[in-house]
Amino acid sequence: MDQTTKSPKSFLVHENVTVRVTFTPLAKSADAKANETVLDVARRAGAPIGNSCGATGICARCRVRIVDGAEQLSPMTSIELRTLTRIGFDDGERLACQAAVFGDCEITTSYWG
Ligand code: FES
Repeated sequence: MDQTTKSPKSFLVHENVTVRVTFTPLAKSADAKANETVLDVARRAGAPIGNSCGATGICARCRVRIVDGAEQLSPMTSIELRTLTRIGFDDGERLACQAAVFGDCEITTSYWG
């Protein structure tokens, strides 16, 4: 199965393992629960990430840069790839609402610095 077609909520995630997401340079972090996206964890950590489409992957306001641990995120969904291609993106950028977390990672944005 093509990994880009899976929704972030259906991707294999950690069970009984502590997974930490760090939001830099905000000095905020939180543990990810099973099946959570970067946006889910950011909300709980108090790290503000823009969003306006109800986490459907369309608005791209939740665009973030992965500082470390990109391999710990789910593969891009087809909607994420379409949206990022439409707006243009660099390697290491993801949509926080589409990227499910299954390992430690570090996230930043262009507006937190
Ligand atoms: S919240 Fe709209 S694309 Fe992520």
